[in-house]
Amino acid sequence: MMAISGKTRVCGVIGDPIEHTLSPTIHNAAFNHLGLDFVFLAFRVKTADLENALRGMRGLGIHGLNVTMPHKNAVTAYLDELDEAVKFLGSTNTILNKDGKLSGFNTDGVGALKALRENGIELAEKKLLLLGAGGAAKAIAFSLAKEVGELVVLNRADGKSKELAERLTITLDKKVVGDALTPDAIADNLQDSDVLINATSVGMNPAANQSIVPPQLLRSDLTVMDIVYNPVETKLAKNAKAAGAKVISGVEMLIYQGAASFEIWTGHSAPIKVMRKAALNKLSNAGERK
Ligand code: ATR
Repeated sequence: MMAISGKTRVCGVIGDPIEHTLSPTIHNAAFNHLGLDFVFLAFRVKTADLENALRGMRGLGIHGLNVTMPHKNAVTAYLDELDEAVKFLGSTNTILNKDGKLSGFNTDGVGALKALRENGIELAEKKLLLLGAGGAAKAIAFSLAKEVGELVVLNRADGKSKELAERLTITLDKKVVGDALTPDAIADNLQDSDVLINATSVGMNPAANQSIVPPQLLRSDLTVMDIVYNPVETKLAKNAKAAGAKVISGVEMLIYQGAASFEIWTGHSAPIKVMRKAALNKLSNAGERK
């Protein structure tokens, strides 16, 4: 741990519950590695206290915050400036305090994009099949729609995937298809897809034995990314690996969205390897909360 000084800048994460967050582990490892005079803390903030928490951020000069469940949408109303992703999504995961002016960012989508790119996945002209239309899926769709040749979003509640596809088509001027998440729709779309992303919570501990995608549909020429990082290797990832597919774990998206926040707060390039190692250590020490 770096020594705390009179100039130490405070960053943190707000959410409820918050005690299992990996963010302090990841960011403090990065601050220490670069010798930055920053510290990162977790704050449990109840919904009724959100506005006070944001006043506290201004009053105490807290430099940066990550925002997680259940505050990602509500917090947006208290900010002074929003990036393009937040404007589209209405949801914020990163705040920067510039002399009392609070700027909101959403780094989930860019995190997914970098997780793919930095792991050598080409997206241009490719067909992406995205499962889910919740908060994380929306952020991924917003960042990836323009990068890929074709995007299909499937969601259990099909109104959500259809609405998301319509909004993306209008906002980005790029045709996106939204439909119901059915076994037939998965099979039909997966046939000619190059990249599959599971952005649903299916497969997360304690229900780690579940996967939406039948293993026989997975192929060696497919890239499969799961946003679930607990367990690090989901059932979908195991099946994809067995089929010879390229697999990118949810830890990659977690790390790259964190790296984007880190860069917003510090202006320094994030030490990805250090952050990944800290996250993986913490996940394995926690026994992945099986
Ligand atoms: P997050 O912020 O992690 O994206 P969320 O907004 O609650 O969380 O979204 C959860 C996603 O997982 C949704 O797409 C949800 O589908 P619905 O919109 O139909 O609820 C999806 N999901 C959760 N459990 C699921 C299940 N058993 N089968 C299919 N999809 C599921």
